[in-house]
Amino acid sequence: MTRSLFDEPPAPYAAPEPIAPGAVLLRGFALGEAEALLQAARQVIAAAPLRHLMTPGGRVMSVGMSNCGALGWTSSRTGYRYEKTDPLSGQPWPPMPACFADLAARAAAEAGFEGFAPDACLINRYQPGVRLSLHQDRDESDLSAPIVSVSLGLPAVFWFGGLQRGDRPARLRLAHGDVAVWGGASRLAFHGVAPLADGEHARLGRQRINLTFRRAG
Ligand code: SIN
Ligand code: FE2
Repeated sequence: MTRSLFDEPPAPYAAPEPIAPGAVLLRGFALGEAEALLQAARQVIAAAPLRHLMTPGGRVMSVGMSNCGALGWTSSRTGYRYEKTDPLSGQPWPPMPACFADLAARAAAEAGFEGFAPDACLINRYQPGVRLSLHQDRDESDLSAPIVSVSLGLPAVFWFGGLQRGDRPARLRLAHGDVAVWGGASRLAFHGVAPLADGEHARLGRQRINLTFRRAG
């Protein structure tokens, strides 16, 4: 029997692939624990629903967002900031699941950043056509810690640029179970996500979920 390309199981994690100084792609690093991560994410979202935030410029973000951990990233007309409580409920954000913090620390160590202890995890949900424009993650007080970003569900094209907005970004395919880590010389690199191509993911259907871990406080 011949196998088609589409039957091919994703290759297991092999080694870090360099993107830029301080930035690596760990393809398949989270594959073995994707199911546990999704179950934990579902519980977080049940307590702190995904929502479409307003940018300071007055636009509604097309990415659906929630958070867990001591601090949660949020945005409104008054600016971007981290908050200890969910503005929707007035309650603290759901605690960071142990499987989240554990994966983030292991991925950071694999990328050369030992001792990463995230206090914030942003959950992003992309549906077909949704994009995230080029930006820097710079609302965190400690820029010595890296960013760890886990992709689940439909594949996306990740733009990874330089320290200037105008630097032409690399285009990297991020698939279910892939983890990107950037810190050090790349900590303030511009990055974003191209409009999500439609498709059907075996586990998640027509969506992509991204978990972004940071040391915010
Ligand atoms: C982000 O920059 O916050 C998310 C990146 C991604 O969805 O891969
Ligand atoms: Fe970001």
